[in-house]
Amino acid sequence: MNLILMGLPGAGKGTQAERIVDKFGYPHISTGDMFRAAIKGGTPLGKKAKSFIDQGALVPDEVTIGIVNERLSEKDTAKGFLLDGFPRTVEQAEALDQMMADKGQKIDAVLYIRVDPEKLMARLTGRRICSDCGATYHLIFNPPAKEGVCDKCGGALKQRADDNEATVHERLQVNMKQQQPLLDFYEAKGSLKTINGDQEIDDVFQEVAAILGELAK
Ligand code: AP5
Ligand code: ZN
Repeated sequence: MNLILMGLPGAGKGTQAERIVDKFGYPHISTGDMFRAAIKGGTPLGKKAKSFIDQGALVPDEVTIGIVNERLSEKDTAKGFLLDGFPRTVEQAEALDQMMADKGQKIDAVLYIRVDPEKLMARLTGRRICSDCGATYHLIFNPPAKEGVCDKCGGALKQRADDNEATVHERLQVNMKQQQPLLDFYEAKGSLKTINGDQEIDDVFQEVAAILGELAK
């Protein structure tokens, strides 16, 4: 199945993606993760993306569309994939439709995690990420068993560079502006599935899993 996970920053895309991948095994394609890996590796892509990400702005469409196109031409995506954080503009969505059409495929569903925007600042500033395996935690909502240490691999937990209050504020503004036209785009195609993201993490996942179970029938 070809799936998209949508939602504002902090809605829980990465958190739910970890669980979807564990249960259903789709390759997880997060443009945010790809940019962060490129920044860490000091690649030309990382150099291009860094200033946008540090400011909480979107990386230009042509750059983002290019890396997704490359990633979707890898063999492991042939039987399905989970896009996380892409598309984020209507231009990206149209480019993705074209990529799918070129392969004789389509997007099967868009899972939109809807959350009260007022909750997102606390979710993002309290987030911690494992520096070794990338697992996501929260100081209050999803703490590790031992403070500062990843439950899964023992790695050290760190805060993301763009999770400070000022950058989060900017990210929320930018993404709120882009999101509605994109929701309208997928609603018109009949592929939008809205999930209540204002629940506990496990309850959100139950909704996600129920939808994916239905789609697989
Ligand atoms: P990206 O990495 O995609 O960041 P984002 O969209 O801002 O989303 P986040 O990863 O911050 O949030 P999430 O929804 O995954 O939340 P999480 O599950 O971690 O993009 C980063 C940057 O890259 C962008 O700003 C942009 O510059 C660039 N970029 C990426 N894609 C692009 C594109 N397509 N076009 C242009 N530029 C692009 O959860 C957050 C926290 O809340 C965690 O601590 C978690 O434990 C907790 N939590 C999760 N669910 C719950 C719950 N149900 N209840 C309580 N707490 C919860
Ligand atoms: Zn880890």
